[in-house]
Amino acid sequence: MAKSIAVAGKGGTGKSTTTALIISELVNRGMGPVLAVDADPDCNLGTLLGVPPKQTIGDLRDDLLKEIKNFPAGMTKANYIEMGLHEIIEEAEGFDLITMGKGEGASCYCFINSLIRKFCDDLAPSYKWLVIDNEAGLEHLSRRTTVDIDGLLVVVNENPLSFDCAVQIESIVKDMKDRIAYNFLITNLVKEERKAKVHERLAQLDMELLCDLPYNAKLEETIFLGEPIKKLIGDPVMDNINLIINRIGGENGNS
Ligand SMILES: Nc1ncnc2c1ncn2[C@@H]1O[C@H](COP(=O)(O)OP(=O)(O)OP(=O)(O)O)[C@@H](O)[C@H]1O
Ligand SMILES: [Mg+2]
Repeated sequence: MAKSIAVAGKGGTGKSTTTALIISELVNRGMGPVLAVDADPDCNLGTLLGVPPKQTIGDLRDDLLKEIKNFPAGMTKANYIEMGLHEIIEEAEGFDLITMGKGEGASCYCFINSLIRKFCDDLAPSYKWLVIDNEAGLEHLSRRTTVDIDGLLVVVNENPLSFDCAVQIESIVKDMKDRIAYNFLITNLVKEERKAKVHERLAQLDMELLCDLPYNAKLEETIFLGEPIKKLIGDPVMDNINLIINRIGGENGNS
């Protein structure tokens, strides 16, 4: 069964950046194949990884609803979804990417959603690692997949609202009972002189603080230039990323 990491936290804390760094380092260490899942409706994981998605699962759901009346004889909704999902998966070196796109909206497309969920769940075991960039509400994890998570990483920055978001995530996680094995915190972009205060806040949570990711000029420049985040391989920022991988994956990150 694939090892799975889900990254969550308030908007703008650095979830997608952290997710992309983890995926790039897993690929660099030959620990793939990795399935990268962008479960944030903003869809920027693909861009960070250098494979901007052409289509999302949300697009496929819309297309199906539009096309359903014109289906050729013998074509079922299940056939359509399965064909479409194969096209949506972006294949890159060492990893594949699947982008969820926008959520279900007000309407109930239960049948379509259950097909999509089944497809995603069936896909997971063919990979060694599954890494998911989540939206703040963890809706995808709690409702749209049955995949179990080995490590949930909650990203917090200096903004106290990001701590409030971590508190909310903690309660969602409690409702998900044993579907998440371990919950971890990481901080991102916290200035040295503010670290003690931020750590003091985080100590109120029932989650272990794994590491502090500092500001990294090369990382910022890479994102600014729209270059793939794998350019950071070998940079000191990867020491922290390796610590995360090893902690969630067990000894050497591989168990
Ligand atoms: N450690 C870091 N060093 C330098 N810049 C960083 C670092 N972490 C994040 N950034 C910058 O912050 C921006 C926001 O980060 P990111 O997109 O990963 O946040 P997010 O939590 O995924 O946001 P959203 O909720 O909007 O998806 C990045 O585009 C990058 O420019
Ligand atoms: Mg993001």
